[in-house]
Amino acid sequence: MPRTMEVVPTSATLGAIVRGVELGCVDEQTFTAIETAWHKYAVLIFEEQTLTDDQHLAFSRRFGRLERGLMMSSKRLLAHLSNVTRDGSIADPTSLQVRFNKGNEHWHTDSSYKRVGAKASLLYARSVPDTGGETEWADMREAYDALDNKMQTWLEDKMAVHSYRYSHAWHGGLELLGEDDLARLPPVEHPVVKIHPATGRKILFVGRHASHLLGEDIDASRAMLKRLTEEACQAPRTFKHRWREGDLAIWDNRCVLHRGHPWPMDQARDMVRSTVAGDDLDNEWAEVC
Ligand code: OGA
Ligand code: MN
Repeated sequence: MPRTMEVVPTSATLGAIVRGVELGCVDEQTFTAIETAWHKYAVLIFEEQTLTDDQHLAFSRRFGRLERGLMMSSKRLLAHLSNVTRDGSIADPTSLQVRFNKGNEHWHTDSSYKRVGAKASLLYARSVPDTGGETEWADMREAYDALDNKMQTWLEDKMAVHSYRYSHAWHGGLELLGEDDLARLPPVEHPVVKIHPATGRKILFVGRHASHLLGEDIDASRAMLKRLTEEACQAPRTFKHRWREGDLAIWDNRCVLHRGHPWPMDQARDMVRSTVAGDDLDNEWAEVC
């Protein structure tokens, strides 16, 4: 007999644990319930999954078209966030693979350096360390609401410049892409205050790819964006998940920031992620279906 879906909210302003669902076989009615819960909680954790890559991709596609990898030659739809090498050994902490993923330890929203940012990310835990390696999310709906009126008004028409080169230069890993690939990632502009298309709520849209405010002093506005992010990502607006193998998290990049936490580098952490492209018919990063 199919189990019934149970949604258990966290004590933070976002996030819920979902039990009683097998993501490999979700019927229409259950999908609608998942989508409704996702809009309410912004981050859902599904426990005890056993997903093949194809099942992971198929479930992700129910939210929209997927994003392709950043390399021009790449048709890859799954990103591997892992310190395990192809031959199964633990990667050197100084390797490019590990350094590139280090950037994820700063608050960010996926693909905000693209003209159309990502809609959703679905991260699946294949192997997890005994300690550390948590992922944490912060609620940018509540973060906007928590700003004082003066700041809300000042930010209302501000645009931030988001840049892959900027964010990947200060934490390393820029060299993963060639000049051709980087040329397809020019700086882009996003409003600092966005309206969430499903809920109508105002969102503070910042994070590590946001370099500075358009038309403002670069250093001063960069410092301001950092301060806004730091103040936004505070309890009760944050929720930190300690992974178990078989957990899948889906989050809404349009209204949350996230970051990873470090773990002992002699232990394996192997995660795989699909990314749902932002809803835009001309999104140049979305797969062609
Ligand atoms: C991601 C990400 C953080 C983590 O998958 O986009 O930032 O904890 N992950 O691995
Ligand atoms: Mn990320």
